[in-house]
Amino acid sequence: MKYRFAERVRPLCQEGAYAVLARAKTLEAEGRDIIHLEIGQPDFPTPPFIAHAGAEAINKGRTNYTSPAGTRELRAAIAESAGAQRGITISPDQVIVGPGAKPALFYTVMALVEPGDQVIIPDPGFPSYEAIVRLAGGLPVPVKLDKNGLYNFDPDDLEASINSRTRLVILNSPSNPTGGVAPISLLEKIAELVKSVDGWIISDEIYSKLVYDGDAPSIAVIPGMTERTVIVDGFSKTYAMTGWRLGYGIMPAVLAERMELLLTHSVGCTAEFTQAAGISALLGDQSAVAAMRDSFRKRRDLTAAALNSIPGVKCALPPGAFYLFPDVSSFRLKSRKIADYLLSEAGVALLAGSDFGKSGEGFLRISYATSLEHLQEAIERMRAALARL
Ligand SMILES: Cc1ncc(COP(=O)(O)O)c(C=O)c1O
Repeated sequence: MKYRFAERVRPLCQEGAYAVLARAKTLEAEGRDIIHLEIGQPDFPTPPFIAHAGAEAINKGRTNYTSPAGTRELRAAIAESAGAQRGITISPDQVIVGPGAKPALFYTVMALVEPGDQVIIPDPGFPSYEAIVRLAGGLPVPVKLDKNGLYNFDPDDLEASINSRTRLVILNSPSNPTGGVAPISLLEKIAELVKSVDGWIISDEIYSKLVYDGDAPSIAVIPGMTERTVIVDGFSKTYAMTGWRLGYGIMPAVLAERMELLLTHSVGCTAEFTQAAGISALLGDQSAVAAMRDSFRKRRDLTAAALNSIPGVKCALPPGAFYLFPDVSSFRLKSRKIADYLLSEAGVALLAGSDFGKSGEGFLRISYATSLEHLQEAIERMRAALARL
């Protein structure tokens, strides 16, 4: 049979992290010893008190459908804690819960973008942004991150790209893949530009609690911005809950009503017991989050220093997330080639910067969400392999 698929799904590609993970798993199945620095997920288990709350909810029969937008209790807990974290007032009606942060990204774009609308995305940036914008029929407009300014949008580049057809600007601070954090002065400039074209912001703040130096302000705190901003955040990274699938969006209540309908007619709702675990995560003791953050900071410092000791590699010390984005352009090879070489020759799985957009060429993305022991071994393997290039 000749299969024919809709035009909207034909251009979709796999995300680099999943593709490299699959290749690394094949090598492991052949007996190779692989160190995984490709996937962006904490190596810590979900803190036990959160896991117990989820298990207890299952045992008590909390395995039913909930309201598509999430349980009242979880929406209230998110409104309270996300508001306190950012110093703004959020009502539960503004909160939409979904299975991960990705649905909040996806449905916001579906709700706001008309075919032909332009959407500014960071380059390099999280690959799903471009895929989602294209699925909605929008036109992604990549704006380069300023490599000297710790990987933030260059406001001049942004100003040159923004126009009356710009519907939405997607921000991600702290950033995947660079770990860069946007200071409030930059966010103020972006806010002015977005207001001038009557546009919207998606502020993907999924790494908002993984900041090691200073803080990561939200653009939503700038006067006049809450009414045109959707904050996207979740539990995957902060609480080591990637597989639980729990995230949320915070937005004007009128948009939340539309989003609830999109959830109703797609996923239906998020698992009730997962939502119970989320309440316990937000209301419980936050020391596990602080302990994970301390551990990430230590890994970041040691790994960046070790990378800088490899001839030909230059690595900045990013203030947030759990990624390093070393510059390997001195090897004069495509970053995809270097990443493939390191996987096959050194057994180190990591991502090419170009997996995140054209401007990522010349860089590698390393997730340091793994043990120090693995990180040290990976660096030594990289040092030896890169010396042979
Ligand atoms: C920038 C960014 N946004 C969103 C997500 C998706 O998070 P979730 O697992 O909650 O869907 C990720 C996951 O890697 C991410 O890096």
